[in-house]
Amino acid sequence: MLRDGKIDLTIKKLYIQTFGCQMNVQDSEKMAALLLQSGYEKTDDPAMADLIVVNTCSIREKAAQKICSQLGRFRVLKVHNPHLKISVGGCLAQQWGEHFFKRVPHLDLVFGTHQIHRLPEMLAALEQSGSRQVETDFCDRVPSLDIIAQPTVGAVSTFVTIMQGCDNFCAYCVVPGLRGPEQSRPLPEILREVKTLAGQGIREITLLGQNVNSYGQTSGGSPDFTDLIRAIDEVDGIERIRFTTSHPKDLSPKLIASFGKVASLCEHIHLPVQSGSDRVLELMNRGYTAEDYREKVTALRSTCPAISITSDMIVGFPGEGNEDFQATLALMEDVRFDNLFSFQYSQREGTTAVGMDHQVCGNVKRERLQILQALQAKHTLEKNFACVGGSEAVLVEGMSKNKPNEMTGRTRGNRIVNFPGNPELIGTTVFVKITEAFLHSLRGEMEERGRAYVH
Ligand code: 5AD
Ligand code: SF4
Repeated sequence: MLRDGKIDLTIKKLYIQTFGCQMNVQDSEKMAALLLQSGYEKTDDPAMADLIVVNTCSIREKAAQKICSQLGRFRVLKVHNPHLKISVGGCLAQQWGEHFFKRVPHLDLVFGTHQIHRLPEMLAALEQSGSRQVETDFCDRVPSLDIIAQPTVGAVSTFVTIMQGCDNFCAYCVVPGLRGPEQSRPLPEILREVKTLAGQGIREITLLGQNVNSYGQTSGGSPDFTDLIRAIDEVDGIERIRFTTSHPKDLSPKLIASFGKVASLCEHIHLPVQSGSDRVLELMNRGYTAEDYREKVTALRSTCPAISITSDMIVGFPGEGNEDFQATLALMEDVRFDNLFSFQYSQREGTTAVGMDHQVCGNVKRERLQILQALQAKHTLEKNFACVGGSEAVLVEGMSKNKPNEMTGRTRGNRIVNFPGNPELIGTTVFVKITEAFLHSLRGEMEERGRAYVH
């Protein structure tokens, strides 16, 4: 940093790289907030860093491989800067603990998912002792739930953690073992954070957690998730509320009834189904049948016909035969998701599916994924084309990356829309007439009738 025209070498530079889900992105923001308070300054260049933090993911094998190769590339930076410290946090750090040092010998610190709040203290201990550290204990209450991440300057939309951990133990999933049991943040604390964010210009909040619609269940069930949404709806300036991710078995009639009724609740739900076969759903320990899922979709659409529904799907779970895969395609045909995230099943240590018979071979998984993704592309395009000619309320988030003089934003149904406009529109909601549709976005023109939102 430049101070009085000179380079100030006392300010340490921090480079954070995040792998994995939105929960990890949010945790990285919390780490940054803590380290900035301890005198660090962020850099976008790892070669300039005094401290590199890699926030890791363990959901699939591929993530772990990518993380190890990235950490390997950072090794050379230590040759140029012997004071550089490299640390890893997050799910893979929680899973591997001490073992991480065997895989990546040049690491200095490994810290688990419940230890984020202690990062400055652990780094100070590292500086003092000079010997590497590992901290992966779980806490009864995750202290980092209460750390407030600072939104990016000028951001219109941000995430707020409302709970973390998971009690479901789906057979393929590492999350419960690595994030610990479900814990919800008290409603008044969440509201305080949302009000502060609204004061900073945030217009859209996405409520974040591993299973947000069971919010409050571990603390007596009241207030529940719908109560929380209704309370946030009252906050001045918050125009849109979204949430991710939710479990079909915990989708209550009370929440379903709120779509189309609570003004700021967006007409979009991400509701991971994972498979369309009852046999596979049971092996996965999901707690619902394909028919239960179809009924929830019907209920959502009869309450709120405009709702867009997105989902997650896994192909090649152990024991998945062709008939099961066909049942998945049939469910997709029936539901017609607006969008779908799909994955090949990946064996993860510590999950119950690891020991299951009839693992599906790689070629079959790849082939099934291709078929499924081709079908979904057709559905997504159909849904996007259906928007052409209509008018959408678009919350403008920023300038389009690809075209000058174009702005980008999202519809309430979570579709990206690009349209000619100027930066003064950022943070406002405008009506856009949709003229073109693509697989990942829509394009349109702003209408004369002006802004769409008045709180
Ligand atoms: N293999 C493949 N996909 C997985 N997911 C979670 N665990 C695995 C795994 N072992 C997917 C699920 C989940 C999403 C976040 O990642 O679809 O909803
Ligand atoms: Fe994993 Fe299932 Fe919990 Fe989601 S609900 S985090 S898939 S165990």
